[in-house]
Amino acid sequence: MSAGARARGLRLDPAALLREAEAARRAAHAPYSGFRVGAALLTASGALVRGCNVENSSLGLSICAERNAVWSAVARGEQSFAAIAVSAGRGRWASPCGACRQVLSEFAPRLWVIWRDRSGRILRRRLGALLPEAFVSRRTRRG
Ligand code: THU
Repeated sequence: MSAGARARGLRLDPAALLREAEAARRAAHAPYSGFRVGAALLTASGALVRGCNVENSSLGLSICAERNAVWSAVARGEQSFAAIAVSAGRGRWASPCGACRQVLSEFAPRLWVIWRDRSGRILRRRLGALLPEAFVSRRTRRG
């Protein structure tokens, strides 16, 4: 998929979506790990929803940027997603963790996932390639 490729009829520009993730990262609250993450979710309706990681002094309560973006999108009535870009800052690998992959697959198993490798090259994979044979219950919504 090249920049300007179409995903579900939406114009998908990976570099622009990554810029949105980098902007989202500025809001991160990560005083314990120092690892600030931003995510930008492109919905099927064309909306952009930002998320950032939010840590807590009770460490297990911390939430990743990707799940934060999913919660926000669902709260505003969006459950169908075309792509997500993730940024952990220059020179840092930022593909979604396993828990976030599972949460994303609830809504969008064919989602494009976009991030940069350590040298800054843009990588993109279908969620299904990052989480093959994901758990699905009979009631799981497929978007
Ligand atoms: N983190 C994310 O926000 N997304 C991921 O996919 C992996 C990890 C956050 C969680 C925690 O606040 C920090 O990065 C260090 O693990």
